Order: sequence, then structure tokens, then C-alpha cells
Amino acid sequence: MSRILIIGSEGQLGSELSTFLKKKKNIDDIILSDIKDNSSSDLTYKKLNALNFKDLESLVEDYKIDDIYHLAAILSAKGEVEPMLTWDLNMNSLFNVLNLAKNKTIKKVFWPSSISVFGNNTPKINTNQFSIKEPNTVYGISKLSGERWCEYYNIKYGTDIRSVRFPGIISSNTLPGGGTTDYAVDIFYSFLKDEKYKCFLNQDTMLPMIYIDDAIESINKIMGVKKDSLNIKSSYNLAGFSMTPKMIEIKLKKIKENFIVEYNPDYRQEIADSWPDSIDDISSQNDWGWHAKYDLGKTINEMIRRLENINK
Ligand SMILES: NC(=O)c1ccc[n+]([C@@H]2O[C@H](COP(=O)([O-])OP(=O)(O)OC[C@H]3O[C@@H](n4cnc5c(N)ncnc54)[C@H](O)[C@@H]3O)[C@@H](O)[C@H]2O)c1
Repeated sequence: MSRILIIGSEGQLGSELSTFLKKKKNIDDIILSDIKDNSSSDLTYKKLNALNFKDLESLVEDYKIDDIYHLAAILSAKGEVEPMLTWDLNMNSLFNVLNLAKNKTIKKVFWPSSISVFGNNTPKINTNQFSIKEPNTVYGISKLSGERWCEYYNIKYGTDIRSVRFPGIISSNTLPGGGTTDYAVDIFYSFLKDEKYKCFLNQDTMLPMIYIDDAIESINKIMGVKKDSLNIKSSYNLAGFSMTPKMIEIKLKKIKENFIVEYNPDYRQEIADSWPDSIDDISSQNDWGWHAKYDLGKTINEMIRRLENINK
């Protein structure tokens, strides 16, 4: 069995990925790392700044790491507040991981890209894998650059880097870390507390989303297939379902009719407007058998069930 390192383990995705892997693997074969002082998990945890190559290299050597899941990043909305910091973290931490993988210390890497690689000039409906990419956020620019470098390392050096372009991830373990789709998680907290939700996007903003179990399953699946079947060497389009804030409001009102959502769009509206409405993920379907299981209705039911359990 391979020994894995998760970088950015304490975030929205990392915390759920470690929980999933814990059920699947020998717990001694999972090492968590993040810049935070402590972990919320009982798995082996090492504080690490992913920008420090030497520390990363030592950690990989000390624990004889085979595969890295590199999840540390600054996301879209936060990225606009700290552009240079975002560029530095998102690019240079990726280079650190790619260079370890290039030297063959590491066997396989998972690194997520995002739908933010697309921009205002991209056709919005069923956006194609190869459609126009002119991102206008520092986050999107860093993800597109990262994709190009992943392809470069895959082809030039024969390294094994696997990647998907995640839509907005809806999950319940931790609060999201500063993305443009965070409303789709935040709204559940207000709903369960019987509070009015103030949404930072317009009610009709259609965006692609994915439920966390599908997101984790996509990582599990793409990391499990033979390298030869992956024809896309940069990052794969990935679809879950698409929704607007109004659609989720209507569904939640069916459960609690006095639930109120107020719409006050802020700077994140412009980011959301530049992204696709829906994603065509035919390459993922063909190359590694991807199919999302969760639609909006199923996602809402699971979110409410899990958040109610956490609060019990
Ligand atoms: N959440 C989404 O909706 C979404 C959508 C598309 C892509 N992604 C991608 O998935 C990955 C994980 O996203 P997330 O939602 O879990 O983000 P998050 O912000 O919740 O978590 C990121 C983690 O990285 C850690 N980190 C920050 N700087 C670090 C450093 N210098 N060294 C080590 N760790 C550091 C943070 O402490 C945090 O725990 C990112 O690459 C993100 O771009 C997420």
C-alpha cells in the first residue's frame, strides 16, 4: 500500500479527504500537513509551510511518502484581496511538489484545478474541456498556469500528476475557505439556526457545483486508474450539477417555509459572472469512468442530515 501525504489537510476538502482515506487505508500510511498549528484529526500531523521546499522534502523522506495530495491554496474570493500572496502560494507550493515528483521521490500527485480557469469569453453552457480560457482572477490565472505546468511535467519528465477542475464544493465538515461558491455551504448554517441568510450573489447566478462525496470519489477514481488511460495531462473538466441561489432557496423553503434569503451581491458577483453555468465532462466520463451521483435534491438532504448530526 502506498503512503500518502495530504498538504492543506485542514481545509474544506482536505478534512473530508482524510476522513475518507482513514476508512480505506492503514492509518500509519496517511500523513497530514497544513500551515495550521494543529489538526482536527487524530491521524499523524506535521505542521508544514508548503512554500518551504527543504521542509517538504524532509517530511517526504522521513515518512517515505509515495503519493502527495496537494490541496493548499488561496481560493478565488480571498485571492482578490491578496493577489501576490495568492500567486506565490498557489504557484510556488505546486512547483515544490512537482519538483519532488520530477526527481521520482514521489510516485503520484493529485492537484486540483478549478472552473475558475474559464473566463468571460468562454461559452457558458456545457463548457467544453478545451474551451477558451481567459481567467480574470488571480486564482484562475494561478490555476490555469498550474495546469500548464502539470501537463509540462507529465510530458517532459514523465511525472505522474493527476488533476480535475472542481466546481464549487458543497460540504459539511468545515466551513469553506474563501471561494465564490461559499454561499452554497453558508446558507445551510443560517437555515439550521433559523436565521435570515444574506447571499452575496444574485438570485439567478447559475454555477456548477459538486457534493463533497462526489468530489472525494472523483479523487479516489482518478488516482486509482492506470496512468495510460489519462489522455488529458493538464486537468479534467468535472461536473456535478448546476444551480442558482434561488433554486436552493426554493428547495429549503419547502422544508421550512419561513426561511428568508436576502440578496446583496458584492465583489464576488463579478467573479461568479465570469464562470461557466454548466460543465461538459465527457473526457472524464470516457477516460476514467466518471459519473456524479448527487444532484441538488440529494445534496440538500445529505447536508441537512449531516449538519444536524454534528450539532446533536
Ligand atoms: N472548495 C472548493 O469549492 C474548491 C473548488 C475548486 C477547487 N478547489 C481546490 O481544492 C483545493 C482545496 O480547497 P479547499 O476548499 O479545501 O481550501 P481551504 O482554503 O478550505 O483549505 C486550504 C488549506 O491550505 C492550508 N494552507 C494555506 N497556506 C498554506 C501553506 N503555506 N502551507 C500549507 N498549508 C497551507 C490552509 O491552512 C487550509 O487548511 C485548493 O487547491 C482549491 O483551489 C476547491
